[in-house]
Amino acid sequence: MLSLITSLVSVLYIAALSHASPLEPRAPVWTFTERGNSGIVALESIIVSPTLALFFDKASDDPLQINNHSAWGALWNLVTDEVTPLDVVTNSFCASGALLSNGSMVSVGGDPNLFPGNPAIEDGTQGIRIFEPCDDPAGVGCTLFEDPTTLHLAENRWYPSAIRIPDGSLMIVGGAHHNLVFYNDIEQGAATVEFFPPKFGGVPRPSEFLKRSLPVNLFPRQFLLPDGKVFMVANNQSIIYDIQTGDERILPDIPNGVRITNPFDGSAILLPLSPPNFTPEVLVCGGTNITDTTPVTSISSQTPASDQCSRITLTEEGIKKGWVVERMLEPRIMPELLHLPNGQVLITNGGSTGVAAIGTVFDPVGNSNADNPAFTPSLYTPTAPRGRRISNVGMPTSNIARLYHSSVTLTPQGNFLIAGSNPNDMTNLTASVKFKSEFRVETLDPPFMFVARPRILNVPSKIGFSQRFTVPVSIPTNLRAAKIEVALMDLGFSSHAFHSGARLVFMNAQLSRDRRSLTITAPPDRNVYPPGPAFIFLTIDDVTSEGQKVMVGSGAPPPQTD
Ligand SMILES: *[C@@H]1O[C@H](CO)[C@@H](O)[C@H](O)[C@H]1NC(C)=O
Ligand SMILES: *[C@@H]1O[C@H](CO)[C@@H](O)[C@H](O)[C@H]1NC(C)=O
Ligand SMILES: *[C@@H]1O[C@H](CO)[C@@H](O)[C@H](O)[C@H]1NC(C)=O
Ligand SMILES: *[C@@H]1O[C@H](CO)[C@@H](O)[C@H](O)[C@H]1NC(C)=O
Ligand SMILES: *[C@@H]1O[C@H](CO)[C@@H](O)[C@H](O)[C@H]1NC(C)=O
Repeated sequence: MLSLITSLVSVLYIAALSHASPLEPRAPVWTFTERGNSGIVALESIIVSPTLALFFDKASDDPLQINNHSAWGALWNLVTDEVTPLDVVTNSFCASGALLSNGSMVSVGGDPNLFPGNPAIEDGTQGIRIFEPCDDPAGVGCTLFEDPTTLHLAENRWYPSAIRIPDGSLMIVGGAHHNLVFYNDIEQGAATVEFFPPKFGGVPRPSEFLKRSLPVNLFPRQFLLPDGKVFMVANNQSIIYDIQTGDERILPDIPNGVRITNPFDGSAILLPLSPPNFTPEVLVCGGTNITDTTPVTSISSQTPASDQCSRITLTEEGIKKGWVVERMLEPRIMPELLHLPNGQVLITNGGSTGVAAIGTVFDPVGNSNADNPAFTPSLYTPTAPRGRRISNVGMPTSNIARLYHSSVTLTPQGNFLIAGSNPNDMTNLTASVKFKSEFRVETLDPPFMFVARPRILNVPSKIGFSQRFTVPVSIPTNLRAAKIEVALMDLGFSSHAFHSGARLVFMNAQLSRDRRSLTITAPPDRNVYPPGPAFIFLTIDDVTSEGQKVMVGSGAPPPQTD
């Protein structure tokens, strides 16, 4: 339906250009579009099918109801902009999640608090919530599975992060054992790593890194590297983690005292991996340079956040060189960094002052620890020369604050779905409160949403490592096809200014002479792209297709051994 509308719009647009039609088409520029009401605050989001995003909130007093109580989970239909409540058993406040090798979404961890007025809630600190692959475009019959007595984490985890590793399981890192006022601490910190399904006897493995990076180490940012190890950053520290042995190699600190994990959230992203070498580079942006010994009651909602981005190449040479600093156009606490299918990075959301969390600084704005929302997104072009990578030329400005507890994800349609923000304890719509509970859903639509786009007409349901496969494509005649980019993407799980599991791997591709088929080479192995679901996007001359869903590997449940 959306693609129908989009192609209709583009037909109209082209018609308008060529025939000076009186109809006014949307100009092909970056645009914010309001989409409707999410019913729950979408503080976490993940794409679970070509047409559905799954939203989680904390269990609270949300207006959307299910089984006679407030919902805190919902499916958002990307085609109709409609919301359907889901019955969640445990409290998903500050959970994380990712996709397994068999396509199931797993949300992990959460909150112990049982909010008044919602009798249905169970403790979520060891929560495991499974959403099986959903074939119905509207999500009819698709539900979350939870059985807290038989299926749970080994350790309490509030504010963990989770990524898919080369055997298709999840590695779940850090968090806290119980609710904290602001900082993590040695008593409550979950300074361990565990796996789902469990490995190494199911016993969580201690991590010195998670102790050293206290008290600013909630939601550690982590990325699977193309050699099968995992890069992690928390507070101002970074390591490379060996999944098999638990060894931690200490890397340089982020420069200038900038800290980037909760409650000082900046964001981090693994830049696109490209053949033949798939050299990994990590970019972290925003956060704050407040010292991590500052009592929260001495922190102000008006303290400028950090405008610093730091980039490191994870080769021996790159590690020796360390982090290289760049500057955003504005400071941002709680920014979001997301891949565009053409390899650029979107910088959006967050505020220019303050810190994360609710009502703990000495001068909260209403209940918000942060203020001065950053309303205009920027684009980061990794391949441009340093100093010329970040621009907001042509970017629109929203008027909806996306502060603590907002989410954003790239959609299979190719635009960004932005929702949430609620720096309040419960639903708070009090007129005098500056940052209310936010139920408005927006998309940020790239210019290509309004023109004729390339299309991948069909894809194999499964692709194997190093496999060459040919897909039929249709390419608008006005595109010269000077630049062809084919991206294999995990769109990630958005929570707390981080997209767990997000990944973009470029694949070599050749267009046939008649421009009607494309021969693509899949990534070489499970370290470059861990087996599991993906979307393939085709970008021709910066005009991107819709994504086509594929399964990388066999689709078998984890652990996949070969
Ligand atoms: C919801 O409440 C109504 C009225 O109180 C009752 O008739 C109905 O059985 C309840 N439904 C569920 C699923 O509890
Ligand atoms: C990182 O933070 C620690 C304190 O948490 C501090 O001792 C160290 O100097 C910082 N590193 C840099 C490069 O600023
Ligand atoms: C900390 O960040 C602020 C705001 O960006 C900046 O003005 C200040 O110079 C920074 N301080 C240090 C020690 O880097
Ligand atoms: C909303 O926030 C204001 C400001 O902190 C507070 O006074 C009010 O009680 C809150 N309302 C609700 C319904 O929580
Ligand atoms: C995927 O694997 C997980 C973990 O074993 C399991 O709980 C889930 O039911 C599986 N999903 C499917 C569709 O097989």
